[in-house]
Amino acid sequence: MKLIRVTDYEEMSRKAAEIIAEQVKEKPESCLGLATGETPVGTYRELVHYRNEGKISFERVHTVNLDEYCGLSADDRQSYRYYMKTNFFDAIGIDPARTFLPDGMNTDVEAECSRYDRVIEGLGGIDLQLLGIGRNGHIGFNEPASYFSKGTHCVTLTESTIEANKRYFASAEEVPRKAYTMGIGTIMAAKKILLLASGREKADAVRASLQGEVTPEMPASILQFHRDAVLIADEEACSKLN
Ligand code: F6R
Repeated sequence: MKLIRVTDYEEMSRKAAEIIAEQVKEKPESCLGLATGETPVGTYRELVHYRNEGKISFERVHTVNLDEYCGLSADDRQSYRYYMKTNFFDAIGIDPARTFLPDGMNTDVEAECSRYDRVIEGLGGIDLQLLGIGRNGHIGFNEPASYFSKGTHCVTLTESTIEANKRYFASAEEVPRKAYTMGIGTIMAAKKILLLASGREKADAVRASLQGEVTPEMPASILQFHRDAVLIADEEACSKLN
């Protein structure tokens, strides 16, 4: 995994947006794998600027998101569909029919997982996958485990993830306990991977993922085996690197 060290969140966001814009210019019909959370907000903001300045168009792009909470509908303000709509999709004017997330309201887990895997397959796989990293090293909602998952599956969120994500909810009790997530196998099949990390609370996960042993106990460590994975991390996130 190649490391691009930057000073702060703003520089990380600008650099990530540059790389994504380059991808879309080179291949306007790219399939972009997208993430939610705090980390990519600045990247989306930069991409919206590019689009508003006429530097790129997302008209021919398809998007597939990493994950969605179980039990939250698309118009629930805490759902990842809602996050994508308000942070990115509406602002870039993309046709919603070109954007895909797991359906958190589908209670038929098997059907939903295979539907989502077929969606990604049908789009010809992911050209560029954007990732954030959890404090425990999760990518998507692939939590530390004893094996690497393959395709889309339903996970039980760890206490550490519930604790980290409760800031978006009225209380920790309201954070859904389950989520659908793209599997590690699907993420690894993306042609290019862009992992972003900002802030001191990511420093342990960044060190372990970049310089530690490749193990499903630290899901992001698998990215060491990817042919074209780039980590853009700011000074605080790099503060524990050897
Ligand atoms: C979000 C996702 C998660 C986040 C991670 C970091 O779609 O898949 O893996 O990227 O939890 O979240 P933030 O960016 O909020 O620190």
